[in-house]
Amino acid sequence: MAEDADAFVFFGATGDLAAKQIFPALQILVANGELDVPVIGVADAPWSLEEFTAHARRAIEEHATLDEAAFATLSGLLRYVSGDYADTETFTTLRTELGAAERPVHYLAIPPSLFEVVASGLAASGCTDGARIVVEKPFGRDAGSAAELNALLHRYFSEDRIYRIDHYLGKDPVQNIIYTRFANPIFEPIWNRSYIRAIQITMAEEFGVEARGSFYDSVGTIRDVVQNHLLAVVANLCMEPPAGPDSDAIRDARAMLLKAVRPLTPADVVRGQYEGYRDTPGVAAGSTTETFAAIRLAIDTWRWSGVPIFIRSGKHLPETATEIMVQFHRPPADVFREIVPPTSSHLRIRVSPDISIGLGMRMKQPGDRMVGDEVELRLSEQPGSVLPPYARLLGDALRGATELFTREDLVDAQWRIIEPILGDVTPIYRYRPGSWGPDETIGMIGAFGPWNDPRTTAP
Ligand code: BG6
Repeated sequence: MAEDADAFVFFGATGDLAAKQIFPALQILVANGELDVPVIGVADAPWSLEEFTAHARRAIEEHATLDEAAFATLSGLLRYVSGDYADTETFTTLRTELGAAERPVHYLAIPPSLFEVVASGLAASGCTDGARIVVEKPFGRDAGSAAELNALLHRYFSEDRIYRIDHYLGKDPVQNIIYTRFANPIFEPIWNRSYIRAIQITMAEEFGVEARGSFYDSVGTIRDVVQNHLLAVVANLCMEPPAGPDSDAIRDARAMLLKAVRPLTPADVVRGQYEGYRDTPGVAAGSTTETFAAIRLAIDTWRWSGVPIFIRSGKHLPETATEIMVQFHRPPADVFREIVPPTSSHLRIRVSPDISIGLGMRMKQPGDRMVGDEVELRLSEQPGSVLPPYARLLGDALRGATELFTREDLVDAQWRIIEPILGDVTPIYRYRPGSWGPDETIGMIGAFGPWNDPRTTAP
């Protein structure tokens, strides 16, 4: 078992990610008694510690809820190192701030183009000894660039000390997929091609790209959420039972599944772009970046052969919700001559904004006729996640728990699936903001349709 870290360092300490996610997460960790080591922010703003602390306070007030007592404790742990990442002096100062710390966690909340200079600066100043490194997505732009990034990090950190964040894995309901499947033996016998006809995963967002134009335009939906978040959901949903509870057993099961997913072809994808996207500041005039993608995946295993997995995600859709719909087969013979909707028999797992698991069935109406209604048995319902994903993941990184971080072979497997559809290998269709994307998606799902509309299942 890894030892607890004895310092937390984060680069990009004055940036957006720090303000929105890291400070609120640190406050929660302090409040939960999980963080009592020095917390050192590094950035180039020429601020004093007081200014940095005031910034942290404002960030929490703006993006979370300030907890005066926890913040007072957090302020006592905060340090600030101001300096250029290219200047060795910055890292010498950091080493001094680290004092006797022997097992720091370094979190790179900075663009990947800066990883090299920061990692080599850390190494040259003796800050990598005994250290762990946490890096943000996107991890590369394709298989080749991900391999280069891995090689770069491996120069300074062994694989077991590299923590690649995919915040979806830190979401409690995404963890709950594994728990529900493997804590309840009733699911295992039906969790295969004999009982499951198709699976749909919808990750819909009502908002657009807004202030993230230049980042988003270089990425697009497939790299932004499909390659990582949604393939992580597929892995949890479809993996074989892990050989045990240790973190590598679960990551091995995820990797085995992802390695069996067939690489996509252009025929498996419909890309869309919402009208007005090209007017967003930072977006190229004639951009062909997708803000919507619908994808059909196939898994070549005995368990899943012939079961299509449809994924649909995009910006400016009618609703913000993430939902999984596992559709069971219809009865093999039509005993009651009813017109039964294809979604009639299902397991619905809602991941956000609220969390629920529902089992869909048909129940006979009272009376002498053999006709039924759609009903759903709610197995579980919660208003939302108790622990925000970043608090969970940073706590895990501090404890040295690796299960929820993406291992190198998982990253490789994810890029292998996605790589053939990157770029302009498929047309880009326009769609109206507030619609469910281009009409071409209807033809894509065909007889397995209609697409699940998470609005119809909201509580
Ligand atoms: C991020 C993407 O990783 O995940 C965003 O870059 C997306 O585009 C976000 O909106 C969704 O995450 P969540 O937790 O808000 O559903």
